[in-house]
Amino acid sequence: MALVEVKSVWKGYPRRAGLRTVEHTVVEDVSLSIEAGETLGLVGESGSGKTTLARIILGLTEPSRGAVRVDGVDLACASRAEMRRLRRQMQPVFQDPYAALNPRMKVFEIVTEPLVIHRRAAGIAGGRAALRAKAIELLSEVGLEEPALERHPHEFSGGQRQRINIARALALRPRLLILDEPVSALDVSVGAQIVNLLRRLQREHGLTYLFISHSMPLVRYLSTRIAVMEGGRLVETGATEALCASPQKEYTRRLLAATPELPAGAA
Ligand SMILES: Nc1ncnc2c1ncn2[C@@H]1O[C@H](COP(=O)(O)OP(=O)(O)OP(=O)(O)O)[C@@H](O)[C@H]1O
Ligand SMILES: [Mg+2]
Repeated sequence: MALVEVKSVWKGYPRRAGLRTVEHTVVEDVSLSIEAGETLGLVGESGSGKTTLARIILGLTEPSRGAVRVDGVDLACASRAEMRRLRRQMQPVFQDPYAALNPRMKVFEIVTEPLVIHRRAAGIAGGRAALRAKAIELLSEVGLEEPALERHPHEFSGGQRQRINIARALALRPRLLILDEPVSALDVSVGAQIVNLLRRLQREHGLTYLFISHSMPLVRYLSTRIAVMEGGRLVETGATEALCASPQKEYTRRLLAATPELPAGAA
């Protein structure tokens, strides 16, 4: 059984057309699956529906039609307890690492907040000392050190902020990370370091990724398979090497041609 199964999902938003309101379809009949342990790269030009699809998988946006199953559970039918369990299993990491971090919170609070919210399920007994030990462990996994715990997000560079974000996403030991352009706000070399971190974390924890990016070289580097979206539709899906070597669609060929090669040192 796939970890994520998306079945004939549609999403439309009402849009004004003169005096009338019409439904504007932004995701159209998309079906795909994500196998445990793989990285599915999701590409497509701006506005093609990638973030909308990601939000539907996360249960943050309700599809107009179709179904999403995560770990065998249909999101539309999940009980509150099941939904809480699924929310722990899938964590988002978004593009702007600063917007995602509460500027008034210290890194300690940011990283441990999910543990406090899901305290019982996370198996955190004890008090602050146990949380602190957990926070130090999470920081070390993303290459940050203990003193960072007492600092605020604005004291860090963009790359470090994204590391803090990733540490927070890992707090509940999720199985799936939904990575929506996690490096596109960063310099190329910093982004490459984050991608390498993601690759290591995946190996160490057997994580499953949905990796959305405009950078074909990075998608190619990280993904097992690639899915291509155009105007809300999934137009092509394939194993990374096969798809890149012989894309079936002109659209895919253009996406592949539009981005330069991976900079030296990224791999
Ligand atoms: N809440 C919303 N209400 C109305 N329209 C929306 C909403 N969210 C997204 N859209 C529209 O849906 C379409 C797809 O948007 P989406 O953000 O999913 O694209 P994307 O592929 O992630 O683009 P980008 O690469 O720029 O991030 C766009 O036309 C967008 O304007
Ligand atoms: Mg997007």
